[in-house]
This record gives sequence, C-alpha cells and structure tokens, in this order.
Amino acid sequence: MHPALARLRTRLGPAGWLDQPAAMAPYLEESRARHHGAALAVVRPADTAAVAAVLAACHEAGVGMVPQGGNTGRCAGALPTAGQLVLSLARLDRIRAVDALDGSLTAEAGCILADVQAAARAHGRLFPLSLGAEGSCTIGGNLATNAGGLNVLRYGSARALCLGLEVVLADGRVWDGLRRLRKDNTGYDLRDLFIGSEGTLGVITAAVLRLFPLPERRATALAALADLDACLALLARARHASADTLTSFELLPRIGLDAAVRHVPGCRDPFDVAHAWCVLLELDGAGDAPAARLEALLADALAAGEIVDAATAASEAQAAALWRLREGLVEAQRHEGASIKHDVAVPVSRVPEFIRQASAACTALLPGVRPYPFGHVGDGNVHFNLSQPPGMAAADFLACWGRCERVVHDLVAACGGSFSAEHGVGRSKTGEMARYKSPLELELMRGIKRTLDPRGILNPGAVLPPG
Ligand code: FAD
Ligand code: MLT
Ligand code: ZN
Repeated sequence: MHPALARLRTRLGPAGWLDQPAAMAPYLEESRARHHGAALAVVRPADTAAVAAVLAACHEAGVGMVPQGGNTGRCAGALPTAGQLVLSLARLDRIRAVDALDGSLTAEAGCILADVQAAARAHGRLFPLSLGAEGSCTIGGNLATNAGGLNVLRYGSARALCLGLEVVLADGRVWDGLRRLRKDNTGYDLRDLFIGSEGTLGVITAAVLRLFPLPERRATALAALADLDACLALLARARHASADTLTSFELLPRIGLDAAVRHVPGCRDPFDVAHAWCVLLELDGAGDAPAARLEALLADALAAGEIVDAATAASEAQAAALWRLREGLVEAQRHEGASIKHDVAVPVSRVPEFIRQASAACTALLPGVRPYPFGHVGDGNVHFNLSQPPGMAAADFLACWGRCERVVHDLVAACGGSFSAEHGVGRSKTGEMARYKSPLELELMRGIKRTLDPRGILNPGAVLPPG
C-alpha cells in the first residue's frame, strides 16, 4: 500500500477504514443491483478535515476515489473499481444551522434528505426536494446529481434549492462557499459547477439550502385523462388556475397502476373503470385555496373533455393513498419481470408524441415488449421504462438494453430532449455523452475536469467518456 494511504488508514482508525469484504459489500452494489463494484477500502471520515485528509492522500498516491452518499443513484455513479477507495459521507450527518428568517438551512453532505425536510419543518419551513428514495439518499448525493423528483414544477431541482457549498478539492484544499445569499454576482458560479458534477470535480461536504414557507394545506387528486394528449391541456389549465401553485403533475399509465395494485400492499385504484392514463396533481397554499382551486379546475377540465373522472383526496390519509400508487408503480415494475429503464426529458409540449413514438418504435424492435412510461411529465421528464415481453427470458430481454436505448435516445434527441433528465450520467451513460453531446461541450467539460482534477482521482470513469 502507498505510504500516504497507510498513514490515512492509521489516522481514520477502524471506524473510518473498512477493508473486510463483508463490511464493504453494501457499498459495492448499486441500487438496481445491475452493477457490482470492487474497492481497496471504504473510508468513512467523520468531518470535513478528515475528508480533506482522504483527498490529500489519494492525490499523493494517485489513487481514484469514489464519493458515496446513500448509494441510491440510478447510473452506477457511486460504484468503484478495484484499487479505488469509496469515500462514504454517511458520518457527516449534522444539521449545522437553521435560520428561519433567512430561509436557510446548513446541512452536512451525509444528512438523509428526509431528516433535512424534518429539520426544516421543525422550524416552520419547507425544504421541498422530495423523491422516492428520500428515506435513504443524502443531501450531498442530491446536489451531486442535481436531483429532481416530485416538486420540481414549483420549487425547481436541487440546484435551485442550494445557496452555498463547502467542497473539498482534489488536492485536499477546502473551498468554503457556504454563503446564504440570494444574490451574488461576483464572477463565475463555482457552486453551480459542483452541483450535478457527480463527484468528478470535488467532494461536497456541506451545503446551505433554501427554505420556503411551510404550506398550510395541500390538495391532491388523481385525474383520469380523456387521452394522453389531454395531459397538456390539463397541465396548462392547472398551472393557470392554481396561480402556479401546482407542485406535482405525475403521469401514471394503466400498466403501472395495475402492477401497483397487484404487487404493492395498500395500493388501490380509486376508479371502477380501467382508465388508460391518469395524472396525480397536487397544489399547495394557504387556507381553503388549494382545495377550492383544485375542485374548480377539475370541474372545468371535466366540462372541457380533458378528463373523464377525478378522485380528490378528502384527507391526508387519502392523499397518502394516491401517492402510494405513484410510488408503488416504481416498486411494482420489479414484479413484472426484468425492466429496461430510460430517464429522459423532452419539451413538455412533445411528451405525448414522444411516448407514442417511443412505444411504437420499441414494440417494432421487440414485439410483445410492454412500455411502462410514467413520471414527472409536468417537467417534460418521462421515465420511459420497458417491461419484459411475456414468454421471453429475462437475460435475452436485458441483452436488448443497448438497442432499445439507442431507439429511445435517438427519438429524444430528435425531439430536442435529454437522455438523462434527473438521474445523471454516472458510469452507465458515458457512452450516451459521447454520442449526444457536441465535441465542443465535451472539450469544455474536459477542460474543467483537468483544471479541478489534474491527476484524475475524482470518481474516475464517471460522467465523461474516455478519450
Ligand atoms: P449516491 O447514489 O451515493 O451518489 C450519486 C452520485 O453522486 C455518485 O456519482 C456519487 O459519487 C456522487 N456523490 C454522492 N455524494 C457526494 C458528495 N457528497 N460529493 C460529491 N459527489 C457525491 N432521483 C431523482 O432525481 N428523482 C427521483 O424522483 C428519484 N427517485 C428515486 C426513487 C428511488 C426508489 C430510488 C432508489 C432512486 C431515485 N432517484 C431519484 C435517484 C437517487 O435517489 C438520486 O440520484 C439521489 O440524489 C442520489 O443520492 P445518494 O445520496 O443516494 O447518492
Ligand atoms: C421516480 O420518479 O419514481 C424515480 O426517478 C424512478 C426511478 O428511480 O427509477
Ligand atoms: Zn423520477
């Protein structure tokens, strides 16, 4: 072992340096269990100074280092290869400060997202980032991937929710950018450079997050669309009629609803008729406004023929039951056989056309394949998943991943879209970077990478394609 790493092992002690296979195992498998990693060791520093020591040692030894938060990422971005270190941020889990007046909360990178939400709520404020993995993903991982989720429509992605960062650079120096300012036009925006860089430019150790007034009320409904195209008219209506207090607009297809009801305890379709497409809408605001606005806009949408039915939640429990359907359909897909997954964005106005074209193209490629498109269509973000055709072996189906991906991502590109809306690039989509990013964009990105990580030790192999 390089002497710098041996010194690091001594400094971190047994709680901060794991190298036994059983202890390392949970850190070496990604959330979909598609990829498995290997590592020299997993390091678990307890504070920013110790993270700095890890990076200084890696820099000196020329050893690659892979930051890891909750390891819930979808693109194998936190997965190391043999000889590298996993740098777990899990022990940096303190909420350093909450300032209700400034509307800011300073959290260390390893804080679990649900804990950050709870800390804000305890001060009468809202931290609006919300996603299915919020019970295990970390704020550092959320910022490193610029996570999106369920409330982007009203509050934006992780980038829009961050005021400042503390980042350890490749050589171990610490950049203290923990500012609480809403306005700061002093040169290049370093904060925004680190956000979404998936650990390839620096390690986020703490962040100042933006808080909002805690909404008094939420109003939630599941609306059955007249057809897929009607989602556009309904979205426009809902945004306008709610004075843009629409927080969520999530598409739920029949196949997903059926799977959720079949496989996930507590999931129930509120309608007697098997509608082809439903949308889960939620508004927030004060007093009776959200409920009244939602009722009125649904009545108008019904009269206009955009929707054919709606189930409005009359209580928190009913709202939770509707959300359970939305979350349940992700989990349920596993029970429907193997899945091929895409996380794409197209301009909102092209969502129905994209879903139709991609479904037709994949069915032509793989007869019997079952398109499973769902998600944040209010943001133009479709999780265009595919479920295994009945009668086809899982391995044969998964062997078609590349061909399906090509068809889907080419269509996305033709629509002016993105092959990764919110999950990032990680290691599984670097080939797509090479194909869809312009040479100029790649050249600029490589230049930034060289400047911030001249020895290439920060999450090697993630985000940028080789070459
Ligand atoms: P990890 O998986 O540990 O890491 C992700 C990437 O960030 C890796 O490249 C890693 O190296 C890097 N990284 C982690 N921490 C740091 C740090 N402190 N500094 C620098 N780099 C770091 N994502 C969405 O955007 N929207 C969703 O709606 C959504 N829903 C999900 C639902 C489920 C059930 C699951 C399992 C995942 C979902 N995800 C979603 C994906 C995932 O939860 C997010 O990408 C999340 O932001 C990852 O956080 P993490 O702490 O688990 O990061
Ligand atoms: C979601 O929106 O539920 C997730 O992003 C889907 C996923 O994690 O695959
Ligand atoms: Zn999503």
